[in-house]
Amino acid sequence: MPVNLIINGKAIQAKDGMTVLDAAWANGINIPTLCHHPDLKPVGACRMCVVEVEKMRGLIASCTLPVSEGMIVQTDTPKVIEERKFILEMLLTDHPNDCMICEADGACELQNQVYEYQVPWTAHKGKRHSYPVDGDPNPFVFTDFNKCILCTRCVRACAEIQGRNVWGVANRGFNDRIVAGADVTMLEAGCESCGACAAYCPTGALTDKTSRGKGRDYQMKKVTTTCTYCGVGCQFDLNVRNGKVVKVTSNRKAVVNGMALCVKGRYGYEFIHHKDRLTKPLIKKDGAFVEASWDEALNLVAEKLGQSKCLIQKFARTVMGTNNVDHCARL
Ligand code: FES
Repeated sequence: MPVNLIINGKAIQAKDGMTVLDAAWANGINIPTLCHHPDLKPVGACRMCVVEVEKMRGLIASCTLPVSEGMIVQTDTPKVIEERKFILEMLLTDHPNDCMICEADGACELQNQVYEYQVPWTAHKGKRHSYPVDGDPNPFVFTDFNKCILCTRCVRACAEIQGRNVWGVANRGFNDRIVAGADVTMLEAGCESCGACAAYCPTGALTDKTSRGKGRDYQMKKVTTTCTYCGVGCQFDLNVRNGKVVKVTSNRKAVVNGMALCVKGRYGYEFIHHKDRLTKPLIKKDGAFVEASWDEALNLVAEKLGQSKCLIQKFARTVMGTNNVDHCARL
């Protein structure tokens, strides 16, 4: 049964079970968010999405509020805007002011909201966190928890998408912080370096180490492509700057994998411009490799592997009981 509600004076029909945020977004009404991501379970942590609802007291987080029949919602009243500005101001009281050299500049959701709501840098002189920058030896993920807004998107992405549960929240109050495992390194906590945490992080707290300093998000030409490593067929965006692939980013529209990627797909792109990369097939003749045409090489492979490929297929289908026969290249 559809649910009828009114948002900003507009009559809306939503599906039962939808949140007010989803219903608003589905009808072109923008409500800002920070902790929310459509792929992840909502937690209502940041309160940027607050709205006013008739007959309900206070401001309510729309990302966790289910629609109900006859609801009347206002998303942009002066009270709501004042609250969002206050939230942003509070976040800035404990956030480094280094957007100009931050890796996330241009793609930072906090920066975008601060700009949108014109919140000035705070003169706050109180306590600020001072975590070690790049304090984790993970070779692919760069950590700077001074930029963390405790939205827990990394925690949820790791648990809900990658199924690794590497990240968690330790302590309480001002001492709240994101930790790997029981405050160990990411790899010790079982991290597979898939980079999902960095892909879902809305700020510069978790970023890709391999592409640091290689270009801003808005300087990249994004080319959607299919991963070459295995037979799953994941898609992602190659980020190209000055004719070179300098980064891989998730493409949420990827049919097979959505935002999820493995370490190879996300970080194993350096072979593309590697000086040792073979660009022409080589065939061994008289004990030495010589350059050949693709037709020549493929015919030779077909001839030599044809028989063994049939045997592998037969073994997989009859003995192992699967029709899925593919291979997986190593990083
Ligand atoms: Fe709703 Fe963060 S987006 S509370």
